[in-house]
Amino acid sequence: MRMYDLIFKKRNGGVLSKKEINYFIKGYTDGDIPDYQASALLMAIYFQKMNECETADLTEAMMNSGDIINLNAINGIKVDKHSTGGVGDKTTIALAPIVAACGVPVAKMSGRGLGHTGGTLDKLESIPGFSVDMAIDKFINNVNNFKIAVAGQTANLAPADKIIYALRDVTATVDNISLIASSIMCKKLASGADSIVLDVKTGSGAFMQNIDDAFELAQEMVKIGNNMGRDTIALVTNMDQPLGNAVGNSLEIKEAIETLKGGGPEDFKELCITLGSYMLLLARCVETVEEGRRKVENVISTGKAFDVFKTFVIEQGGDVSYVENIDLFPKAKGVYELKSEATGYINKIEADVVGLAALTLGAGRETKESVIDLTVGIVLNKKVGDYVQAGETLAYIHYNNDDKRKDATEKLKSAYLIEEASRSKSPLLFGIVT
Ligand code: URA
Repeated sequence: MRMYDLIFKKRNGGVLSKKEINYFIKGYTDGDIPDYQASALLMAIYFQKMNECETADLTEAMMNSGDIINLNAINGIKVDKHSTGGVGDKTTIALAPIVAACGVPVAKMSGRGLGHTGGTLDKLESIPGFSVDMAIDKFINNVNNFKIAVAGQTANLAPADKIIYALRDVTATVDNISLIASSIMCKKLASGADSIVLDVKTGSGAFMQNIDDAFELAQEMVKIGNNMGRDTIALVTNMDQPLGNAVGNSLEIKEAIETLKGGGPEDFKELCITLGSYMLLLARCVETVEEGRRKVENVISTGKAFDVFKTFVIEQGGDVSYVENIDLFPKAKGVYELKSEATGYINKIEADVVGLAALTLGAGRETKESVIDLTVGIVLNKKVGDYVQAGETLAYIHYNNDDKRKDATEKLKSAYLIEEASRSKSPLLFGIVT
């Protein structure tokens, strides 16, 4: 088999066989296929696309390129949740303890943030002492004993995806549905959960800015999951404005804690309840989504979910006093209030622009090597649909550097569309793909 022939075939619209896909993945992972040939194939895939069977074969080949985590030692149906990423997306931090408090084991492997979307691990590490590095035995023991553990992905989880994703990132081949679906699902499948709830984001702050593309990606991933014997569903949800109010690591942790205690912003709380209900359904812990909803609401209102979160923090080395008193979290040196220059309805808060403003402040990584400033970020005071008077505060900018603050302020201002008349607001949940 020659890589040249695979590139030639795909370039001309042909369908790659399982053998050919395996040859590419093994050869590239082993370092036998050079970057220029892998890049050429990815670009051919980008333009010619892959069919369902090729996408499934690519997923399986990447899944098999490294460790397959065996979670059989954990009792019960393990349900994983994955979000395609967005601005202010701190869902795992609240959702994992909520679901665990309902009795469903949550064994979650999460990633770090790159660019304008933050990562769950970075956010959790804003709790002093909290560690996401743990051996698989401890991970499994924690889930068996406390129903919850969140760890960083092991270095050898789907290594083919790691190197191919890095190549896609620099060859403008990220935004292809088959490549995204296989990249996400190979890691989910290798992580060993029995069932998977996918939160596919759509809107200005998401990979999939267009709703039809988001549904197509959701369908592709659900098919892959179900065909690989995992009960999989996807919720297509709104990322046109940031989720909740807080964007930035410790600011988001504080918001997640408030939500676990029964407060928190409405949209964020609603998303946690909805995703939680479906996770309980897939875990066969409830018979209907409505029953799931009641159960989730109950563990929040009784404080059970917050108690599980505290145990989770302690078990992973975190200082629980920060969770009990969120005022202890270190603060940025200043908080600047962005005031509205106009009076009217907020019809847009572009999520990607808010994300970039937070990145400018230092809340995210420009490159893999960047060091994150855990204290900085943005807290929205108004959301889409709200009426605002000129001079009222739109958002609080938490900053440590004056130049960065000025730059971020200009960016953040441009995220808003304020008009005399209100426009219809898009829903939080666009639909469910089963
Ligand atoms: N997240 C992934 O893991 N892979 C992609 O291709 C896109 C988003």
